[in-house]
Amino acid sequence: MANLGVNIDHVATIRQARGTQYPDPVEAAVLAQLGGADQITVHLREDRRHIIDRDVRLLRSVLQVPLNLEMACTHEMVRFALEIKPDMVTLVPEKREERTTEGGLEVAGQIAPLTDAVRHLQSAGIPCSLFIEPDEAAVDATLRTNAQMVEFHTGRYSELTGTEQSRELTRITAATAYGHGKGLAVHAGHGLNFRNVIPVARVPHMQDLNIGHSIVARAVLVGLERAVREMKDLIQK
Ligand code: PXP
Repeated sequence: MANLGVNIDHVATIRQARGTQYPDPVEAAVLAQLGGADQITVHLREDRRHIIDRDVRLLRSVLQVPLNLEMACTHEMVRFALEIKPDMVTLVPEKREERTTEGGLEVAGQIAPLTDAVRHLQSAGIPCSLFIEPDEAAVDATLRTNAQMVEFHTGRYSELTGTEQSRELTRITAATAYGHGKGLAVHAGHGLNFRNVIPVARVPHMQDLNIGHSIVARAVLVGLERAVREMKDLIQK
């Protein structure tokens, strides 16, 4: 059975949109933990558009479940991770203008910097995962960096439908078997939602699923009625 990593970035997106102190992603993480999250995932982007350094520091001290820090492979981020010591780091590609992470890392084209980052992090006791496309070549390239884990990008899977989606699921299933056979822990994420998650959760050897946007989006809807009632009560008192 796959574990659930809850990505709380978009709670911070709402906070940053107004420059308020709420909603606090740290509070959200504690609630996610109460709800059964096996892990909390945050992406500290270089432009700090949602999660900020203070969030990661606080999460590090309050969480009882593991903290997975997603970050770009830069000197600044590696230094920060070495200071904070999350339970694991997932290295992701990052472009400033993108709305969200748009694809897996081009590992083969940057073996040296990735290997360097993985070495620094893993020698400090922080296991590393690379966010990659679900294919054998990307797994082989990951092995050259000595990372212990991969996260397969499920963005394509979540955008497709019908037989095309089934074909992508087959690709994810094959890549998972291949990665697992090579001794890597295999995770997946991006675009997974309440409608498309089950087949991915059933992929043999799939260890963790990292899911953010769909959970935060649903929380807004399932919580809205109560929030309105509470505000109306206040006004009417
Ligand atoms: N995994 C990685 C590496 C990501 O970059 C993201 C998005 O930040 C996710 C998982 C979660 O994706 P989503 O928010 O679409 O569930």
